[in-house]
Amino acid sequence: MAEIALGMWTSHGPTLSTTPEQWLLRVSADRKNRHPFRGRVYDFDSLVELRKDEGLAESSSLAERERKAASCQRSIEEMADRFAAARIDVAVIMGNDQRELFLEDITPAITVYLGDTIWDQPASEEQAARMPPGIHEAEPGHSPPERREYPCLPDLGLHVCNSLVPQGWDLAVSKKLPEPPGHWSSGAPHSLGFIYRQIMRDEVIPNLPIIINTFFPPNQPTARRCFELGKAVGAAIRNWDKDLRVAVFGSGGMSHFVIDEAFDRMFFEALRTRDAETLCGIEDKYLQSGTSELKTWIAAAGALFDTDLKGDVVGYEPCYRSEAGTGTANGFVAWQ
Ligand SMILES: [Fe+2]
Repeated sequence: MAEIALGMWTSHGPTLSTTPEQWLLRVSADRKNRHPFRGRVYDFDSLVELRKDEGLAESSSLAERERKAASCQRSIEEMADRFAAARIDVAVIMGNDQRELFLEDITPAITVYLGDTIWDQPASEEQAARMPPGIHEAEPGHSPPERREYPCLPDLGLHVCNSLVPQGWDLAVSKKLPEPPGHWSSGAPHSLGFIYRQIMRDEVIPNLPIIINTFFPPNQPTARRCFELGKAVGAAIRNWDKDLRVAVFGSGGMSHFVIDEAFDRMFFEALRTRDAETLCGIEDKYLQSGTSELKTWIAAAGALFDTDLKGDVVGYEPCYRSEAGTGTANGFVAWQ
């Protein structure tokens, strides 16, 4: 039977793949957008006012950005080293889509990828020109320099479907990546591509992507549903009739695009103590926008809490880019 031998939770966003100077490219968008934060929604100036006593100008200074960027790179190296040392055969990746795959014509809540392979490639010039500011610059962090095709695990995907559907799970499946004409993105979403490039270091092992719609209302699965999904997937992995060592990943988070360090600390503590009820009880209003990606972490926790793996926080840096507290908090956790 297959064995879950490694668990990894990792952030995957642009601050991990751009220079501290380039982090500021996103501030123009921060100023335009409205931001969920602690259950409410704010504009940029209101956040500056709300958080004026937190020293965020200092926290987002170039010196701090440089320190945090270097620290994040060390954490990624540590994660990749631990992944390599764990001699993993196959991986299950709980990821999300940010309109890289699914558009407004159809947005499945949970998609099990059943293709034999998954491809990725850099954006064309025309696609790059259509990306929001500061996104194209991050592309080398999750897309290969030329088109690549990576092995997947339709075998395990089918086994997951055959296990979960009789339990009442209504899963979407996909045998090949959608390629909508004229789309700004192509290939694997960055939630997968980051794992392929930076944790697997381009030596991509057969993997099963499970894509959760964390971002887009109104059909985001709840935190509890994500945990239960992971629990059911974990059970399916463990009764998969293959003598293989499996890694389970949660890819996304932590709090962004407004950073909330207290929330992230609460989340780490819930992982450390295998506190499923705290994770399941996080209301959707706290899991919107980029922070919603922590639902992939919750799904991974559903699978990993039922193992005897143990581990720790490899790194955490709240990578602020403005005095409004915008940025991305990057966190890394590994259980071996
Ligand atoms: Fe993301």
